Amino acid sequence: MRTQILKKNQIDEAVALLKKGELVALPTETVYGLAADAYNENAIRKIFSVKGRPENHPLILHIDSCDSVDFYAKNVSVYAKKLADFFWPGPLTMILNKKESINNLITGGLNTIAIRVPNNTAMLEVLKKMKNGIVAPSANFYQKISPTRPMHVIKNLDGKISAVLDDGGCAVGIESTIIDMTKDVPVILRPGAITKEMIENVLMFEIKSPVMHAEKVSGNMKNHYQPEKPLFLLTVKQIERLSMEENNSAIMHYSEISKNSGFFYYRMPKDKKQYAKKLYFALHELDSLDVKKIFVEIPPDSTEWGGVMDRLVKAAVK
Ligand code: TXA
Ligand code: MG
Repeated sequence: MRTQILKKNQIDEAVALLKKGELVALPTETVYGLAADAYNENAIRKIFSVKGRPENHPLILHIDSCDSVDFYAKNVSVYAKKLADFFWPGPLTMILNKKESINNLITGGLNTIAIRVPNNTAMLEVLKKMKNGIVAPSANFYQKISPTRPMHVIKNLDGKISAVLDDGGCAVGIESTIIDMTKDVPVILRPGAITKEMIENVLMFEIKSPVMHAEKVSGNMKNHYQPEKPLFLLTVKQIERLSMEENNSAIMHYSEISKNSGFFYYRMPKDKKQYAKKLYFALHELDSLDVKKIFVEIPPDSTEWGGVMDRLVKAAVK
């Protein structure tokens, strides 16, 4: 199979492929998603085989507006509706009680379903034309670095999927915040650009932050988002000390650092939004260099950096 690169105005081509049960990588504001028609079981199965992802690891259903959420979920609380109104389209995924009509393959047999409305014009146009929802995990091999550019998708999936719809770089750069809205008190399962504080400001009550939990979500997996090269999370001081002994490694930093020869230095933005946007791009770049290791400066210890920290901790060698 040849993987076509579609221009972002080739919406009809992308829709036609999806309707035929093919897989197409689509842009979202977070990362590129590996999309399939949510009502085509064979297409959904292909997602798991192409990604090498276990079938009990549930998928996010993407829909075109919050108006259709009751079609897929039942007993949606007023609080969930409030968050949908405020944050959709946007990088927030809500876990809701699923309707019986939802294929168990999407939810890994759970009674709940993950739903979001992505904030990307091309993706929204595809969703509107499909009418059915679209299931889409990140368009990378299981546990590897997520794609924020079409070339990242191609790196993993060339020849394995029908097409990539090219809309350049993703604006947010890390996956959506996931919040479980089926519990008495909502719980964040995966941190992202929409923080606990932002959600609490809308709900006007306290929610629970990331915890270890039983469901098979990325928040619960120890290894994820991993480059091929071993990645170490260190302070600038530790990196400076190590760079006296080590060589031939990449160093990703946002603070001033004293430089040594034999290292590849990659400067990251100090602003958390800009950092998140560049994170996977930087990891793909550094991973493709001829280096032995990747040293990453630990990001600031604040909840605002929670999404970035979560991805780096899971990418790091334990
Ligand atoms: O930003 C995003 O969310 C991207 C873009 C493409 O939309 N998608 C994404 O999908 O990150 P994926 O499959 O890489 O991660 C989805 C996470 C998985 O860890 C999955 O286990 C969790 O959502 N999930 C899905 N359904 C769930 C459910 N019913 N309960 C708990 N977690 C669920
Ligand atoms: Mg993923």
